[in-house]
Amino acid sequence: MVKNDAHEPGDVLLSAEEIADVVGRLGREISSDYHGRDLILVNLLKGGVVFLADLIRQLSIPHQIDFLRVSSYEDGTGSSGIVRIIEDLGTNVAGRDVLIVEDVLDSGRTLSYILDMLRIRSPRSLEVCSLLRKQFVTTSPRPTIRYLGKEIPDVFVVGYGLDYNERFRNLPYIAKLVIVEKL
Ligand code: IMP
Ligand code: MG
Repeated sequence: MVKNDAHEPGDVLLSAEEIADVVGRLGREISSDYHGRDLILVNLLKGGVVFLADLIRQLSIPHQIDFLRVSSYEDGTGSSGIVRIIEDLGTNVAGRDVLIVEDVLDSGRTLSYILDMLRIRSPRSLEVCSLLRKQFVTTSPRPTIRYLGKEIPDVFVVGYGLDYNERFRNLPYIAKLVIVEKL
C-alpha cells in the first residue's frame, strides 16, 4: 500500500442502463413466479436498499417488504468472518413466501447464515434474488440464487448501494474500486 493513496471508482462494470434492464427482467420473473402467493421481500441493509427500491417498482403483484441489517465486512474490502445481526425483521415470516433481496454474493457466508436463521422460522418458501454474484474459486458451496442479475469478476465493486467504507453508494452505476496514487 502506497502512502497518500485513495480508493476511487474505476472501470464501469454495469452502467445505469444495464442495471435498469437487469432489474426489469428480474421484476418480470418474480411477478410471474409469485403471482397469487404471499410474497415478502427481505432486504439486506444497507447495500441492497437501492436495488430493492428499483426492484419493487418493477413488480406487478402485491408484496410486503422488510429489512434485516447484518454486517459481515466490518470495514474496507476484507471479510471479518463474522456475521452479526444488527437489526432483525419486524415480521413473522412463518407460512409466507420469503424472497431475500441481496446486493452481491461473494463468499456466500452472509447469505448462508441468514438462510439458516430464516429457515427455522418456517416460511412457506425461501429463495434468494441477488443483483450480482462474484466468480469464486474455492470449493466451499455457496447458496443457490434463484434470481440472479449478473455474474461479475472477483473484484471489489462500488455504486448502486454498494460501498467502500460508506462511500460511493450513490453512484448510479457499478464500478470496480481502484487505488489511485496521489502525488
Ligand atoms: P459474503 O458473505 O462474502 O458473500 O459477502 C457478502 C456481503 O459483503 C455483501 O452483501 C456486501 O454487503 C459485502 N460485499 C461483498 N463484496 C462486496 C463488494 O465488492 N463491494 C461492496 N460490498 C461487498
Ligand atoms: Mg449485502
